[in-house]
Amino acid sequence: MLSIQWIAIGLIVGAVIGALAARLVAMTAMPELVALFNGFGGLASLLVAWFEYRSRPDLITFTAATVFVSVLIGGVTFTGSLIAWGKLSERLSGRPVQFPGQHLVNILTVAALLAGGVIFAANPAANEPLFLGILALTALLGALLVIPIGGADMPVVISLLNSYSGLAACATGFVIQNTVLIVTGSLVGASGVILTRIMCKAMNRSLANVLFSGFGSAASAGKGGTETREAKSVSASEAYVMLEAARSVVFVPGYGLAVAQAQHAARELGDLLELNGAEVRYGIHPVAGRMPGHMNVLLAEANVPYDQLAEMDAVNPVMDTVDVCVVIGANDVVNPAALTDEASPIFGMPIIEAHRARIVIIMKRSLGVGFAGIGNDLFYKDNSRMLFGDAKASLQALVAEFKET
Ligand code: TAP
Repeated sequence: MLSIQWIAIGLIVGAVIGALAARLVAMTAMPELVALFNGFGGLASLLVAWFEYRSRPDLITFTAATVFVSVLIGGVTFTGSLIAWGKLSERLSGRPVQFPGQHLVNILTVAALLAGGVIFAANPAANEPLFLGILALTALLGALLVIPIGGADMPVVISLLNSYSGLAACATGFVIQNTVLIVTGSLVGASGVILTRIMCKAMNRSLANVLFSGFGSAASAGKGGTETREAKSVSASEAYVMLEAARSVVFVPGYGLAVAQAQHAARELGDLLELNGAEVRYGIHPVAGRMPGHMNVLLAEANVPYDQLAEMDAVNPVMDTVDVCVVIGANDVVNPAALTDEASPIFGMPIIEAHRARIVIIMKRSLGVGFAGIGNDLFYKDNSRMLFGDAKASLQALVAEFKET
């Protein structure tokens, strides 16, 4: 009876904290909240397995092995997610942390863990100090695996850690022989792996490249900050003249749209352009923003008609016929270096080919880099015009121009 009361109290407290956190978090901070929740999922599985070990000293080898697997994956998920959360929320540096012999240290840690797991599973009763050593090593391994990965790749890592948290729950399901936990854990594990794969594919990178390449390190940071060419800028009134004459307009939203919370202003401008006789579409890149479906969620919130959303593969073939492409706070996902510069860290990533439109208007606050930390040739093309400023303010200025005339 007492345990049911404790479970109910835990459920209520956890549900209130979770609901409040999800309700209060800014949309742009959602990935780090997901990272934290994944970590707690791993920790919960680890604690249940630990409790089972302490309360059932007569564990058979199979159950001891599942306790080990649950603690291993749960521990890695917990500390790995904490590091991911720290990097995304900028409490830790987003730069990959690499040191000589790193792979060797990782391999030795994994080997020590596996050896410890075999010894533990063979004789769990007399091996509590070994168990505590395993706990400490799993925590270390989680941190070691995530520190060498750059901030730009954290969303992929979070998706992978999400999958791990499901696998940890699944292993814990075996420990306590709970079928529901096994099934739900497997579902989370499998869907996390599929999502991770989709994200890697959209960036044209392998998972191994994401996990071990240190993408975003000083060596791969590219040429951001050393640019000497001049980009042509326009005022809102000049951009209005271009848009007013356009018969076909494609918006390409990116992370800056989310930062500026410019989705409502974008829809308002889209509506005015349609009234003015233009065909309006929103080109959605699969990894625009900081999480899968980020742009779709924002545009849906602003009630952008679903039939105006076009995937990258649908919008690229018609880009040559587009009069004006308006890039709203996007950078990496429209960077032509991905197509042309073999030395670029994003080479091979499919992009929305905004540079092929007749005119490109780019809304952002500066010529600064995006999350991949590299310069963007698009800003310097003959047909490009920078509309500097916060994306929401720029869109509102354009809306005002349309309303005034
Ligand atoms: P980014 O390349 O990150 O560029 C966003 C741009 O928004 C910045 O250059 C910034 O320029 C601008 N910006 C920021 N605040 C703004 C504001 N208030 N008003 C106007 N502009 C603002 O974004 P992207 O093109 O969406 O690309 C996403 C990146 O994240 C890619 O590198 C992608 O691989 C990576 N990534 C995404 C995911 C998912 S699932 N979405 C997963 C893993 C990695 P200024 O500072 O000059 O304004």
